[in-house]
Amino acid sequence: MKIDRKMLFKNSNQLILESFSNEQNYLDLINKKKYSSDEALEILENIDWDFKSFSTQYLTHTFHPYPARFIPQIPLTFIKLFTKERERVLDPMCGCGTTLVEAFLNDRNSIGNDLNPLAALIAKVKTTLIKKDEFKYLNEKLIKMKKYLDLDYRNIDRTINGLPNRKVSKIFNKTIISKLEIIRETLIEIKEEGYYDLFDLGRIALSSTIWSLVENGNGINVDELFIKKIKSMQQILSQMSKVIKDPPDVKVICGDARNLSIENNSIDLIITSPPYVNALDYYRVHMYNMLWLGMDFDLFRKHEIGGHSHFINNRFRLLSEYLGDMLRSMIEMNRVLKRDKFCVIVVGNSSLEYELIESHKFFTEMAKKIGFIPIKTIFRNIDKTRKYTSADIGKIDEEYIVVMQKKEETHIFANDDNFVSQIVKELMLHFKEQIKNNPGTSTRGKKPSNERLLKNIDKISEAIEKIPEDIRIKE
Ligand SMILES: C[S@@+](CC[C@H](N)C(=O)[O-])C[C@H]1O[C@@H](n2cnc3c(N)ncnc32)[C@H](O)[C@@H]1O
Repeated sequence: MKIDRKMLFKNSNQLILESFSNEQNYLDLINKKKYSSDEALEILENIDWDFKSFSTQYLTHTFHPYPARFIPQIPLTFIKLFTKERERVLDPMCGCGTTLVEAFLNDRNSIGNDLNPLAALIAKVKTTLIKKDEFKYLNEKLIKMKKYLDLDYRNIDRTINGLPNRKVSKIFNKTIISKLEIIRETLIEIKEEGYYDLFDLGRIALSSTIWSLVENGNGINVDELFIKKIKSMQQILSQMSKVIKDPPDVKVICGDARNLSIENNSIDLIITSPPYVNALDYYRVHMYNMLWLGMDFDLFRKHEIGGHSHFINNRFRLLSEYLGDMLRSMIEMNRVLKRDKFCVIVVGNSSLEYELIESHKFFTEMAKKIGFIPIKTIFRNIDKTRKYTSADIGKIDEEYIVVMQKKEETHIFANDDNFVSQIVKELMLHFKEQIKNNPGTSTRGKKPSNERLLKNIDKISEAIEKIPEDIRIKE
């Protein structure tokens, strides 16, 4: 089946691709023919990876906000150049499913994995088409809900337990809570009546509405916002259904990238963007939505890669923990990927204690130890309007695309603590030498004293000692 992307775009009324000649040239290039791997690798050189002013918010990509997602053109390029129709693409840390949506629109089967249950749900909803008669049922349900809301919500006296902080308690006043409860009850009825895909769609609409309440504060019309959100999702999915008659397979797993529930040698392309070390606690960002959806975020919080709420006194211990987690994840990527196929990891630099952390270089070194050949690393600027800021790192305005090829089986297991310890130790020792020779590689504003920088060497030494303890997977 061939999907006419242009038709989808035109139908969506969001943008007319032809008006962007760069974008059109880019699409012409990746759609021109089926490229061999060698040709595809050459084409990578001809692409302007900044994708400046390209449209990134189209179709189901608009369903739900998600921090630090990558722009669709990154997975799209690799999917188009390195796979054929119905081959299987994996994103082991799929976030809100950008890779999956692009695979879906381009007739590739896909698997998405993420430990965050909200991410997994968003990814699933963005790649699930819904039948016309199901939408008819949903619309009737919403009309009933609205009538009930208009009549009754003032008389409903409800309390909500366990709202995480005062700011949120303020936003969620009694009226809003009552309205949200009615929406939630309607969704439960939908589930009980057997419309599971609609239930999930409704939960994502609710979550997106709650997100905008927390962001914008004013939520008195929460029911109208919710209904508006559902309608716009419905419109998009209906457009997609008209064009995608025989959808490719999509599987979404809520699981740990360090232990994938996926068969050996079954994947044709991996494309993913892992968390950065010390950049963002995903569980914090999603706390409110998850709470309202009744999702348990404790498990996610415990096993989240790159989270920074611990090792406060020695941030370099975060680094070895992160490297251990990423090494385990990359061993898993190697295990599930077919031989000679490509694995692409997109990551930016971080900063710890005034030192620059070039994660892509660590990944390239790790790749060589576990059966991958690093092929190339592509640098790209992130569009000014899309930069995101981290409290610890500041503005993140560039990232690296690491392209690797699987040459052999690893014969190493992701749960081999001794191996992970040994590789992380090698990497950390090398890092320590670099810092000794050139301290303060990431100083913004006032330069710290030499004394302060020298302390980093001691901290790195301590982190190296603690590696066997710090890389262990938490119980
Ligand atoms: C940079 S985001 C990915 C964004 C994604 N590319 C997108 O466009 O939405 C990194 C993701 O890694 C996930 N993650 C963190 N720890 C994980 C783990 N142990 N296993 C699987 N996913 C994990 C986070 O939940 C987050 O969604």
